[in-house]
Amino acid sequence: MTGQFYVTTPLYYITDEPHIGTAYTTIVADVLARYKRLLGVEVFFVTGTDEHGQKIARAAAAEGLKPRELADRFAPKYREVWQSLDITLDYFIRTTDPAHEEAVQAFFKKVIEQGDIYKAKYQGWYCNPCERYVSEKDAPDHVCPVCRRPAEALEEENYFFRLSKYQDKMLSHLKEHPDFIGPTSRYNEIRNRVEAGLEDISVSRSAFDWGVPMPDDSKQSIWVWFDALINYISALGYPKKTDLFEKFWPADVHLIGKDILWFHSVIWPCMLMSAGIALPKKIYAHGWWTMNADKISKSKGNVIYPRDVIARVGVDGLRYFMMREIPFGLDGDFSNNALLARYNNELGNDLGNLLLRTLTMIEKYFQGRLPRPAMESSELRSAVEGLAPQIEKKLDQYQFSILLEKIWEVIRKVNKYIDQEKPWVLAKSDQERLKTVLYTVAESLRIISIYLGPFIPESASKILTQLGLPGEVGAGQFNQAVVWGQLPDGCLVKKGAPLFPKIE
Ligand code: MSP
Repeated sequence: MTGQFYVTTPLYYITDEPHIGTAYTTIVADVLARYKRLLGVEVFFVTGTDEHGQKIARAAAAEGLKPRELADRFAPKYREVWQSLDITLDYFIRTTDPAHEEAVQAFFKKVIEQGDIYKAKYQGWYCNPCERYVSEKDAPDHVCPVCRRPAEALEEENYFFRLSKYQDKMLSHLKEHPDFIGPTSRYNEIRNRVEAGLEDISVSRSAFDWGVPMPDDSKQSIWVWFDALINYISALGYPKKTDLFEKFWPADVHLIGKDILWFHSVIWPCMLMSAGIALPKKIYAHGWWTMNADKISKSKGNVIYPRDVIARVGVDGLRYFMMREIPFGLDGDFSNNALLARYNNELGNDLGNLLLRTLTMIEKYFQGRLPRPAMESSELRSAVEGLAPQIEKKLDQYQFSILLEKIWEVIRKVNKYIDQEKPWVLAKSDQERLKTVLYTVAESLRIISIYLGPFIPESASKILTQLGLPGEVGAGQFNQAVVWGQLPDGCLVKKGAPLFPKIE
């Protein structure tokens, strides 16, 4: 193993089961985690559920449930859906886990010890769906600047966190680490806001008790964001000095949506500075999946559930579409036409049919046993080999859609190679050349399926087994596995059902 990689997703509110918007971050994290493992990196991948706060308390009350009952209903749904999406998470955290609650209190005590907490009156506005305080300055119309819903008037005696104290330190950190926030447009946005000044924030609520109690004042509960952010270290065992913590903190990347960037890129780092803990290395904010330009969300009533998409295009159809359709960081429409077009054309025609016709020819011309000819170089071979060094680079730049586009350029080259070389003609005229051509195609498919494994794991594994190979490439095996020429002589292929049957 070389190196470590700690990747996190936000903790999802348990007012509903996962929809494709929340599935997105989790799929991206999974692709990264799978690639890193293949590259020999030791990975810790954490996701989970955010279960405290007024939003949850109200959602539970609306259903005649206790908040805990609502949480217990939906938290297992998250696990189930992640499993159905082939998510290889290492740890699932719930903010109601006793160990997390203890960590939150321990963290809060540290911040108190620094003199960073004081009691004052909060008089302003609060957006319940976003669980955020909305200041008069940011929203003179009292509409939440993020979700555009009306905020509620709020007047409470609360505990405040001295965010303002960390303004200079935060700004220096941003200046010294231009890669701290991605994409760059978001970095600029946050830097401008920090330059404009940081104000102290209320970090407790007194109106309800569904939260972690404040140390030494059980009438107040800790604000749900202050509580939930701490999961990124409590998942590693904080406040204990565990091996996990030593190994994986600071996190390599917190993957999040753009709506929660401020909490992650300013409030969380300032909390960590106060507690004397190192800052995460990177926060990457992606865009929103929209439908007819509206964010997909439960409250908008335009939710699409993964299972409904899976029923049509399969797990890999969904994973591929989400990773390919929009450049990471931007918004994009989840359109049915685009989904079907990518599924039928790119997965079905370009990749699925390529495998099918290759195996059909190997069966027809070589009774299913592919001979290994003398190795020769070809333009196609160079194109396939040329992708390997780009993978890590594009991944580290979070350019998933570009990476897939590049892989598909090569897949199309393989198809073109078959059309140009015409194995059906060679079968009658030149057996030696036929061997070389079919071996080149099959070997290209083998290597391409390894490149695609993290994106479409089930299908990639099927390609390998249909080529007569073990379906898995082990951790740390990537570089060795993508070396050209490893399909053994006489390899027995096993044609299966089409990988991506056409959808009308
Ligand atoms: N509970 C907080 C996060 C706490 S992290 C310490 C929260 N939860 S959420 O369930 O509302 O949202 C979780 C994530 O899902 C956010 O990153 C949000 O951007 C993302 N998405 C929710 N709907 C989405 C889309 N329609 N498209 C893309 N991502 C979306 O915020």
